[in-house]
Amino acid sequence: METQTILVDRNVNKEETYTQAVEILKNGGVVAFPTETVYGLGADATNGEAVSRIFEAKGRPADNPLIVHVDSKESALHYVQNVSDKALHCMDAFWPGALTLILKASPGTFAGNVTADLDTVGIRVPDHPVALNLLKRVGIPIAAPSANISGKPSPTLAEHVFHDMDGIIPLILDGGATEIGLESTVLDMTSEPPVILRPGKISKQQLEAEIGTVHLSTEIKNNAPKAPGMKYIHYAPEAPVYLIEDKPALILKAIEHVQRSGKKVAVLSKESYPQADFHFALSGEALYDSLRKCDLMKVDLVLAVVPLNPEKGDALMNRLEKAADHKWFS
Ligand code: TXA
Ligand code: MG
Repeated sequence: METQTILVDRNVNKEETYTQAVEILKNGGVVAFPTETVYGLGADATNGEAVSRIFEAKGRPADNPLIVHVDSKESALHYVQNVSDKALHCMDAFWPGALTLILKASPGTFAGNVTADLDTVGIRVPDHPVALNLLKRVGIPIAAPSANISGKPSPTLAEHVFHDMDGIIPLILDGGATEIGLESTVLDMTSEPPVILRPGKISKQQLEAEIGTVHLSTEIKNNAPKAPGMKYIHYAPEAPVYLIEDKPALILKAIEHVQRSGKKVAVLSKESYPQADFHFALSGEALYDSLRKCDLMKVDLVLAVVPLNPEKGDALMNRLEKAADHKWFS
């Protein structure tokens, strides 16, 4: 299969730009498109065969449910039930935006493989003109996980999608770099108080300002993994990633130690470390691109410099811990 990329001007909503994508989606195919968080790999969420193409393309485990994307709150309300006042309030306050709400799905709406046969669904309205234009035109709910090979860093550029999906999917809509660079906050509205299953740009503080107390899933004892995806390895480059405290003397020692064994070391940090073989930027926007650059440069070890006292539930820290599998350099 040849993978075509169409450049999309986010400020111009032209019919022709979207015709092919709409056609493919309506016929049960998959299309990659930009959102404000990361690129998504979309398919008709009501068509099990279409959705299975997403799982195949990504090599994604079947028990990890997908996020459904719709064009508005009104559309979302067609597909879910028992929606609490708090959930409605979140929709008004944060949609379109980087907040996925876990809600009771209306029975018989979504293909079973979208929700991994749970009776709940993760749903959001993305805040990106290209995603919204596409969703409005196609008129069906679109299941879309991040458009990367399962386990790899999520794509924040169309080039990242092409790298992972060349020859596997028919079409990529290229809307340039995504603004946020980390996946949406996932908030479980079927618990009381609601629980953040995956931290994102929309923080616990922002949510609490709107709907009162919310919990972080990491703070709850004996929780079965409620966001099934959270138990899998994520965001990992080929080389092992180690977290390291933001102490220049320690970092210089670590660089020297790794290089002494003949290995190439990359440092991910705000400040530059010219002593390292490579230095890549570290921020929410830059993280996944930096991790992918580590692969391109075939580095042997990655040091990710984290702030001394990261806040609980910080999205960047959450992704770094996963990429490093919680290993600290010592
Ligand atoms: O920013 C994003 O959310 C991106 C863009 C493309 O929208 N999408 C994304 O999807 O990150 P994905 O599939 O890579 O992540 C879905 C997350 C997983 O952690 C999954 O376990 C959780 O949402 N999830 C989905 N449905 C769920 C459900 N019914 N109950 C609990 N967790 C669910
Ligand atoms: Mg993902």
